[in-house]
Amino acid sequence: MSDVVHVGSHEYKTHNGDIDRCVLLYSGGLDTSVMIKWIMDNYGCEVITLTLDVGQTTKDLEEIRDKALKLGATDAFIIDAKKEFADEYISKAIKANALYEGSYPVSTALARPLKAKWAVKIAEKVDADAIAHGSTGKGNDQVRFEVCILAMKPDIKVIAPVREWELTRDQEIEYAKKHGIPIPVDLESPYSVDENLWGRSVECGEIEYIDKEVPADALAWCVPPEKAPDEPEYLEIEFEHGVPVSINNKRFELWQLITELNRIGGAHGVGVIDHVEDRIVGIKSREFYEAPAATILIKAHRDLEKTVLTRYENWFKPIVDQEWTNLVYAGLWIEPLLKDLEAFINQVNKRVTGKVIVKLFKGNVMVTGRDSPYALYDLKLASYNKGQLFNQTASKGFIEIWGLQSRMAYMISQTIDLRVGNNMYLTNKSEKVHK
Ligand code: ARG
Repeated sequence: MSDVVHVGSHEYKTHNGDIDRCVLLYSGGLDTSVMIKWIMDNYGCEVITLTLDVGQTTKDLEEIRDKALKLGATDAFIIDAKKEFADEYISKAIKANALYEGSYPVSTALARPLKAKWAVKIAEKVDADAIAHGSTGKGNDQVRFEVCILAMKPDIKVIAPVREWELTRDQEIEYAKKHGIPIPVDLESPYSVDENLWGRSVECGEIEYIDKEVPADALAWCVPPEKAPDEPEYLEIEFEHGVPVSINNKRFELWQLITELNRIGGAHGVGVIDHVEDRIVGIKSREFYEAPAATILIKAHRDLEKTVLTRYENWFKPIVDQEWTNLVYAGLWIEPLLKDLEAFINQVNKRVTGKVIVKLFKGNVMVTGRDSPYALYDLKLASYNKGQLFNQTASKGFIEIWGLQSRMAYMISQTIDLRVGNNMYLTNKSEKVHK
């Protein structure tokens, strides 16, 4: 008899004394800084912080480490995960042309399973019995973190203080002042921001009024498109098996290439995304994103796919891509279907090799040229001028057979009287068709 593995339900109710050591996913901002002290007080346990460098631009990581230790953390881990994030997460999103509901390049969603994985790794290393994160009870991120963490380590306890502590913003600031927790200078910022290599997600403040244009101060990576240079900029991007490897013939590691494109694209106002979005928990929310590299690379990648794939592949792949994107958005990184879909996506991308020229201009990215050894495009077939290869006389017979069923259906629709109760239905049909 085989051993039965029980997944069971997770014990969320933790009390003071239940936990000895907790790993906190720490950003260095106000919420997670308050959490260090709050968790120590409320659970009577040690706190060890973990900060991942996934390409966020705003924070000095050494400063974050010092701050965590100063606030009472027993230890503070900083992990440079930029290469891992690009090579093992973002590359898949490029191959899948991942845009949730047609717009959002799932940047925040992609980094959550990576952070969950590292939290579990560090929890095992330091022998912690809990993991804490700073997500709220209304968003997607709590789902993404906890589904991954509990799958990888079912015996761990998860603490989400923002879901529990019932502190208003003012009470939180009071608490911080009382415990000597530095209040960030940018506290005035009305926005909630999450950043990584693949994009910058902005929520809250004026953005919540869906009928109003997002204020310009929500932008940090991009110039407003109307203020972008009057001259366009052309880039040649080379792909190998679906993954970008060079810009203007200069090779980069993927994380560096993305960093470059965020800078170049941002200067042209490319990648500003205003999106009304369906969250996992059912809430519809207005989100604002800056994602220059993602916008450029997905546009270029999809164009190259169209050039090298057959029409059947081009028709079918977006269905697979969308399914992949929905699962990633929904926090189901460990769902087996994701891997199944990737098998198809990788197989298709074997031929997605070549160069794409893009033109960046005032918030737009246009593909202006492409070239690939796998291109199914043949000038001799396509050209109206020098077409010698395509046998036009064969088209006549092709059309006759190709349209057979459509012709029949059309003729029938013209001859049958579809009025209810017409008992001449069958007679009418056979008479007219065989005339
Ligand atoms: N709506 C996006 C998502 O669910 C972004 C969430 C960003 N979080 C934030 N703190 N601003 O993936």
